[in-house]
Amino acid sequence: MNFRTVTPEEMKKAAALEALKLVRDGMVLGIGTGSTVNFFIDALKDLIAQGVRIRGVSTSFESSERARAVGVNVEEDYTGPIDLDVDGADEMDASGNLVKGGGGALLREKIIAYNSKNVCIIADESKFKANGIGTFRIPVEVLPYLSQMTRNQVEKIGGICIFRDNGKYRTDNGNMVMDCDFGIIKNPAEMENKIKMVPGVMEVGLFCGLATLAFVAGQDGTRTINFKNFSP
Ligand code: A5P
Repeated sequence: MNFRTVTPEEMKKAAALEALKLVRDGMVLGIGTGSTVNFFIDALKDLIAQGVRIRGVSTSFESSERARAVGVNVEEDYTGPIDLDVDGADEMDASGNLVKGGGGALLREKIIAYNSKNVCIIADESKFKANGIGTFRIPVEVLPYLSQMTRNQVEKIGGICIFRDNGKYRTDNGNMVMDCDFGIIKNPAEMENKIKMVPGVMEVGLFCGLATLAFVAGQDGTRTINFKNFSP
C-alpha cells in the first residue's frame, strides 16, 4: 500500500478550509496573521466571487493587503462587533490557551480576538501541545522606551528574554518584541496577567480564555476542538 504523507502546508490549508465553512454572508471577520491564515484569506476569494459579502478588520499590514487583494472590504476604524476571528497559533493546549506572536502581530491579534464574538484557531498538529505550552518562547511586545528596564522586570517573573533581531525588530505598531523562555507554563492565565502588569509591556503573546474553537489538521484529517459555545 502507498501511504502518502500529508505535508504541513496541506494541513494548514485543510484547517483553513474548515474555518471557511463558518463564514456567512454579511459577516465581519477578524483576519489573523501568518502562513496558516494566508490559506484562509486566499480561499475567501471564491466565496466573494459567489456573491458572499465580507467585511473585515485585520491584525497586520500584511494581512490587510492580502485580504484587500481578494476583495475583502478591510475596515480601518471599525467599532464592532466582530462576528468571527480566524487566526493561527504558535502553540495551543487542550484548554485553548494559546501562544501567539511568532509573526509579531500579537497586539493587534489580541485586540481583535478580545472583541470577537467567536475566535476560531486554525493550525497543523505540530502546534498542539498536550503537555502544556511554553516550548515556543513567549513573544512580548515592548515599548522601545527604557526597554531594558522592562526586560529586567519581566525576567524577574522567572524567564529569560531575548530581544528579537538583536533589538532591531519592530512591529506594525513601532514596538520591539522579546521572546521569553519560561519553560512549560503551569498556569498560563496567571502568567499572562503577571507579564501584562509590567509597565512597558504593550502585550503578551499568551492568549487565555479567548478561543471558541480550533481546527487542528493532522495526518488523519482535521479535528475540531470546542472550548466554548459558538455565538451566532
Ligand atoms: C502572528 O503574530 C502569530 O500569532 C501567528 O498567528 C502564528 O505565529 C501562527 O503563524 P503560522 O500560521 O505561520 O504558523
